[in-house]
Amino acid sequence: MAISTSPGNVFFLGEHSIVYGRPAIVAAVNFRTHAEVKKRTDNKVVINSDGYGTFEDTLENLSTKEWTVKLATPTEPARNDYKTDGKMDVLAPAKDLIGRLAQIHDLKTGFELSVKSEIPQNSGGMSSSTAFLSSVLGALNQEFSLGIDHQNFFDVLLPFQVKIHGGAASGAEITSSSLGGYNWVKRDLTKTPPVLERKNLGKQNFHLVIGNTGVAGLTSETVPYVRSGFNGDNASYNAVFDRIAELVSLAEKAIKAGDAKLLGQLMDEDHELLSRDLGVSHPKLNKLVDAARQAGAYGAKLSGGGKGGVMVALVSQETQDKVAKAIEAVGGHAYITTVGGEGLKN
Ligand code: MEV
Repeated sequence: MAISTSPGNVFFLGEHSIVYGRPAIVAAVNFRTHAEVKKRTDNKVVINSDGYGTFEDTLENLSTKEWTVKLATPTEPARNDYKTDGKMDVLAPAKDLIGRLAQIHDLKTGFELSVKSEIPQNSGGMSSSTAFLSSVLGALNQEFSLGIDHQNFFDVLLPFQVKIHGGAASGAEITSSSLGGYNWVKRDLTKTPPVLERKNLGKQNFHLVIGNTGVAGLTSETVPYVRSGFNGDNASYNAVFDRIAELVSLAEKAIKAGDAKLLGQLMDEDHELLSRDLGVSHPKLNKLVDAARQAGAYGAKLSGGGKGGVMVALVSQETQDKVAKAIEAVGGHAYITTVGGEGLKN
């Protein structure tokens, strides 16, 4: 039997602009998904997952299923390849991953897979689907001795991330879920298949409060939304992405210097750009961000795709409770979490 756990992720800065080749800073948060894999004596795959249902099929069926990733064309409307009848099939990416691994590694023995997640289910922006896939891959890797280095989880998982996000994804969250820590990440757009450059920013001691709006924000809708704006006016959008890149570069230095005050200011400006210029905020996100700032946070911003989901507030240990209460007082759900911890653990 093999057990693996993987953390969720937040963006300190740089979501959306990372899709256009600008850098971002992501970090693992201490909400983890736990996957357990146990070989069976037959060829059945049985998946049990807290809150996401159950599933049973044979390994042959899963591995012969047609498996493709269709990249989004710039002008097509939002889509989610794992959505049927308007509902996201959360187990679908895991089924795809299992089928793909069975093809590549010629797996013949079935297994039981059970997955439990601490990541709140309606919390878009904490990369629950990435943590789910990363923990499943970690447990299968161990149980079947697949020999996949954690550094290479990005290459294995990116196609599924692309499908989840509707045809375009940076894969930045895979870094946090597999490798943990605080990371500067940037897509090299000149390489096919895509390569994510990564710099680990070392062990840091920042404190966050995460605020959940409870509004479902779908990355498969916000990424195409920004894309359509970009297609209409490249120059204006490039200017915003370039300013975010400058903020990321300053934030990298602030993180290394442990300067929470400066980092908070940079996060505030990033939120304004995401909100006013890219249009991916939501009235409830802005409300939680304002409440966190008024309660003494160094800075606050939406995290991830936006239009709902979660925001993050950078706080001191002393203001953490006050900021959490302020977020709750305006209708959000607040989580106090450590940040930049371990990635995949077996
Ligand atoms: C979504 O969590 C983050 C985005 O930057 C999309 C991506 O990086 O794939 C909006």
